[in-house]
Amino acid sequence: MGDSRLIIFDTTLRDGEQAPGFSMNTSEKLRLARQLQTLGVDVLEVGFPIASSDDAEAVRLIASEITGPVIAGLARCNRADIECAAEAIKAAERSRIHTFIATSDLHLDRKLRISREECLEAVIENVTLARTFTDDVEFSAEDATRTDLDFLCQIVETAIAHGATTVNLPDTVGYCTPDEIEHFFTDVIGRVPNSDRAVFSAHCHDDLGLAVANSLAAVRAGCQQVECTINGVGERAGNASLEEIVMVMRVRHDRMPYTTGIETTALFGTSQLLSELTGERVQANKAIVGRNAFAHEAGIHQDGVIKDRRTYEIMLPGDIGATSHLVLGKHSGRHALKKRYEEIGFELSRFEIDRAYRAMIDLADLQKTIEDADLVSIVEQIRAEQSAGAA
Ligand code: KIV
Ligand code: ZN
Repeated sequence: MGDSRLIIFDTTLRDGEQAPGFSMNTSEKLRLARQLQTLGVDVLEVGFPIASSDDAEAVRLIASEITGPVIAGLARCNRADIECAAEAIKAAERSRIHTFIATSDLHLDRKLRISREECLEAVIENVTLARTFTDDVEFSAEDATRTDLDFLCQIVETAIAHGATTVNLPDTVGYCTPDEIEHFFTDVIGRVPNSDRAVFSAHCHDDLGLAVANSLAAVRAGCQQVECTINGVGERAGNASLEEIVMVMRVRHDRMPYTTGIETTALFGTSQLLSELTGERVQANKAIVGRNAFAHEAGIHQDGVIKDRRTYEIMLPGDIGATSHLVLGKHSGRHALKKRYEEIGFELSRFEIDRAYRAMIDLADLQKTIEDADLVSIVEQIRAEQSAGAA
C-alpha cells in the first residue's frame, strides 16, 4: 500500500442538507461553501438543482463564487435533471455532473418500475449526455451494495465506456459491514475490465454506525474518493463523517497511509459553523468535534493529562482547531482544581485548595459543571472567612 492522495468529496450541502432539520437558505449555503473551501475539500457537491428553484439558485451562486474545489451538481439519469444541473454549475471554474440511478432489483422493481435493460439504457444515454456538458462526470449506482454483482459490473463497465470518470458505489442504506465492503470493491474493481479508466468512490451511510469503517475498508480495496459530510450529517443516520475519516488518516497514518488536502485546523470551526447555521447541536461525545472530545473530568484522567497529555489524548485539540479543557465536576481531583485556579490567576495555599475542593464537590452535587465564576466565588468566600477569623 502506497502513501497516496485520497479525494475528499464533501456532500454536506446535498446529502446533508436534505436531512430533516438541516436545510439552509442560499446565503447560509454560500457561507458554508466558503468554509468548506477553506477546509480544502476536493469536490464540493452543492445541491440537486432540479429539486427546487432555490436549490438551483444556490448551486448557481456557489458555482460562480467558489474557486478551488470541483463543484458538483446532482442529477438523476434523465435529460431534464442533467440539463438543469449542467446549467446550474456552468459558471464553475471546474464542474462535475453527478448522475445516479438505482441498480438493485428492489429499487428497479418496486421504486423505478423499470427492467435491468431499461436501467442500462438510461445509463448509456445519460452518461453520454452528461459528457456533452463537462469532461468530469460521476456516475452513482444507488443501492449498489445490494445489487446483483454481475449486473452491477455490467453497469459500471458501461458507465465508464460512455464517459464516466468517477464511479461511485453507495451503501445507500448503510447495510454493509467493513469486511463485506472491502470484498465488494475488490470484486468490482477486479472484474470490470475498464476499471482503470475511472476513479472509484465510496458513499457510505451510517444506519448501523459503520459508515466511517466502511469508507476506510473501501479505500483499502482501491477507492480513491470518499464521500462524506461535516458532523456526519445526511439522510437518516447520516453519511460518513469527514472529520473522522481525515483524522484516522492523520492519527493512524501507520495503518492508513493516505493523505488528504484537508487543513485539519479548520475542522472544528467548520463543524461549529454547520451547527450554528442549522441550529442542530453536535452530540457532546461525537468523535473529533463533540464538545467532550477533548474534555477530561475524571480525576485520574485529569491527573494523567496534567502530567503528560498523551496518557489520555491521541491527538492534540489544536490539530483540529479546538482547545483542550479540564472540565471541573464531581469527578475531578485537587490537581485539576489547582491548575484551573492558576490558569485564572489564583495562587492557592494547600489549606485553601483543600477547602475549595470540598466546596467544589458540594457545588457539583447541585450543578453539572463548575464554571470559572464559581471558582472565584469559592475562593473569595474562603478568603473572606479567613480574614474574618483572623480579625
Ligand atoms: O445514498 C445514495 O445512494 C446517494 C446517491 C444519490 C449518491 O446519496
Ligand atoms: Zn447518500
